[in-house]
Amino acid sequence: MTEKTAVDRREFMRLGMAAGTVVMAAGVLPGFSWADVKTVGVDDCLAMSPAKMVDSSKVVQDAWQYLQATLATIGDAQVRKVVAGMIADPLPTFYARLADGGKEGVWNELTAEKLIEGIALADFLPPVADRKKSPQPFITAPGSGYQSHHSYPGGLVTHTALNVRLALAIHQCYQETYGAELDRDVIIASQVLHDIHKGWVFQWGDDGSSRTELKLAGTGEHHVYSIAESIARGLPAEICVAQACAHNHPGTAKDEAEVVGWLRAAAILLGIDPAAKGLLAANGKTLPLPRRMENFVCHLGDHDYVLSVPAVQWLLPEMQAIAKEKYRMSDDDLHGKKFNAFRNYAFSQVTAMTLYHHYSTSGRAGLAEKLTAMIVPA
Ligand SMILES: [Fe+2]
Ligand SMILES: [Fe+2]
Repeated sequence: MTEKTAVDRREFMRLGMAAGTVVMAAGVLPGFSWADVKTVGVDDCLAMSPAKMVDSSKVVQDAWQYLQATLATIGDAQVRKVVAGMIADPLPTFYARLADGGKEGVWNELTAEKLIEGIALADFLPPVADRKKSPQPFITAPGSGYQSHHSYPGGLVTHTALNVRLALAIHQCYQETYGAELDRDVIIASQVLHDIHKGWVFQWGDDGSSRTELKLAGTGEHHVYSIAESIARGLPAEICVAQACAHNHPGTAKDEAEVVGWLRAAAILLGIDPAAKGLLAANGKTLPLPRRMENFVCHLGDHDYVLSVPAVQWLLPEMQAIAKEKYRMSDDDLHGKKFNAFRNYAFSQVTAMTLYHHYSTSGRAGLAEKLTAMIVPA
C-alpha cells in the first residue's frame, strides 16, 4: 500500500465513522502492557473469586470489549442479536427438555448410535444448579480443562477473542489473495460461539480448579453442547456447521465423519433430524455439499492450542518451583487451593501465553521476577 492509499483509507474510515455508516472493521484490542497489571499480595489471590479476578484484569476486559465490538459488525440483525444474547447469557437452553424426563432416552439413543462411551447415565450432562441461570457467565469461564491452554478465569474470553482475530485474518487473506468473498457473519458467529458451553462444562470448584470434562462423540463434551446450543437458539445451519468444524475439518472422509458425528449427537440432544434442518447432506453421511470454505476457516481459527497447550504444560512446573522457592508453598500447597489461586490470578491478569513468552525468553529467573512483582510474597 502506498502512503497515499494508506492516508485515503484512514480518511475513508474517519468519514465513515463520522457519517455513522457501518464500517466493516472488527473491534480493536489496545494491546498488552505489563504497566497495566495490578500488584496484589499472595494471600489476596486466595480471597479472590473468578469474578473478582476478571474484574481486575485489563487483558480479559479488553478481549471482552473486542468480542462485543466485533460481533456488533455482524451484518444480519437477527444473527447479531442471537450471538450477542448467547454470550451475554450462555444458559444451556436445551437442558430443560432433558432434565424433564428426556435424559435417559437421549442417553440410550446416543449409546445405540455409538456416540457416547464411558459416560454413565448418572454423570451425563454437567450440573445445572438453577435452570433459569447460566452455570457461570461467559467472562469468568476458563477456556480449557485445568491442565490445558486457557485454564484460568477469563480464559474463554481471551481464547475466543484470539480465535476471532485469527479467523478474520484468514478471511482477509483469502479475500486479498484469492478474491474469495467468504461469509463474514458465518466466520464471526461460528468462532464467537465455538466454545460457548465451556462455562457450563468447566465450572469452578472450591479448590480453585475446574470440573473435569467428559467425552461425547469422541471429543470434549463442550463441543457437542456448544453446537446444540447454536442450533437450539435458531442460528442458520451454515453457522452451526462451521462451528462444528472447530474440532476437525471435513477435508477427508475420515475427518468429516467425526464432524458428522458431532452434528448427529447435537441433533439427538435436541430431538431433531439433522438432514431435514440442513445440518447434513440429505443422505446424512456428509456435511451439506459442496462443503463451504467457512467450515475450514472456523477450524483453522481454533489452532492456537498447538502452542498454547504445551506452553501451559511447560510453564506449570516452573511456576510450582517458583511458588515453592519464593512463596514458601509446601508440597500440599502446590497441589491444592493455594497454588491454584496463585496460578489463576497470574494467568487471568496477564494470560498464560504472555507468561510463557516471558519464560521462553528470560528463563525461570525472569519469570520469577515478573511473578513476584505482580504477586508479592508474604
Ligand atoms: Fe472446543
Ligand atoms: Fe476452542
